[in-house]
Amino acid sequence: MKATPILSVEGLSKRFGGVHALEQVSFELFPGEVLALAGDNGAGKSTLIKAISGVYRPDDGRILYKGEPVAFDNPRQARDLGIETIYQDLALADNLDIGANVFLGREPLRRLFGLLPALDRKRMRQEALQAIETLDIEIKRLDVPVRTLSGGQRQAVAIGRAIYWKAEILIMDEPTAALGVPEQRKVRALVEGLKEQKVGVIFISHNLGDIFAVADRILVLRRGIMAGIRRTADTDADEIVKLMVGG
Ligand SMILES: Nc1ncnc2c1ncn2[C@@H]1O[C@H](COP(=O)(O)OP(=O)(O)OP(=O)(O)O)[C@@H](O)[C@H]1O
Ligand SMILES: [Mg+2]
Repeated sequence: MKATPILSVEGLSKRFGGVHALEQVSFELFPGEVLALAGDNGAGKSTLIKAISGVYRPDDGRILYKGEPVAFDNPRQARDLGIETIYQDLALADNLDIGANVFLGREPLRRLFGLLPALDRKRMRQEALQAIETLDIEIKRLDVPVRTLSGGQRQAVAIGRAIYWKAEILIMDEPTAALGVPEQRKVRALVEGLKEQKVGVIFISHNLGDIFAVADRILVLRRGIMAGIRRTADTDADEIVKLMVGG
C-alpha cells in the first residue's frame, strides 16, 4: 500500500514576463521524506518553493496538501496550515530576541489587569527555550538580539520555530550555504530529527555532499523544467550533475 503524499505538485508553471521560471513541474512529497532540489543558478528552485509557500501564485497547475487542493494568497496562510519556509535570507528579525522570533507574527497576548492586551514576553521566552532545547544546540542567552548569533544558531532558531509550530512540511532554501563545517553537520542532524518526526522536508542546495547525506530523493531542475527525479540510493553525483547541465 502506498502512503498518502503530504504534498502533491501537479503541472506547476510560473512565468515572469517572457521568462519561463517553471514549466510543468510535478512531484510528490511523503511524510518523513527529505526531497532535495538541485539545479544551476536560475534553474527555478527558489521560484518553485515560493510557489508552494504562498509567495507567488502559480500561472498554471495545482498544489494538493494532504490530498486537498490549496491556493495561498500569502506565506502566512501556508504557515497556518503547517507549511513553514526558511528563505535564503533566513527571514529572522535581527533586532528581536529568540523568543520574539519564534513567535513572530503569532505572538501570545496576556491581559494586563484583565483588560489591556499585552505581549506575553515571559511565555514567549520560556517556550522558545523549550523549542531550542529539543534541538540540542548551544545558545547561552535567549534575550540577545538574533543578529548576534552565528549562522548555525540562526538556522537553529528558524528550525526551532518550525518545530514549535508543528510544521508538517519544512522548506529550506540553501540552509547550509553560509555555514561553517560544524554548523553544516548540525543542520544535517536537525534534518534527520525532522525526518524521525515525520515532517516532510524540501531543501535546496548547491552542495552535493549535503544532498547525498540527507536526501531520500533528488529533483533536478534545468531552466524551469524537470530534468529528472531520482532516489538518492539509485544515483550518484555524476548523474545529478549531468541532469543539471543537460546535453
Ligand atoms: N521576481 C522575479 N521577477 C522576474 N524574474 C524572476 C523573478 N524571480 C526569479 N526570476 C527569474 O526566474 C528564473 C528562476 O529563478 P530562481 O530564483 O527560481 O532560480 P534558482 O534556481 O533559485 O537560482 P539560484 O540557485 O541562483 O538561487 C531566473 O531566470 C530568474 O531570473
Ligand atoms: Mg534561489
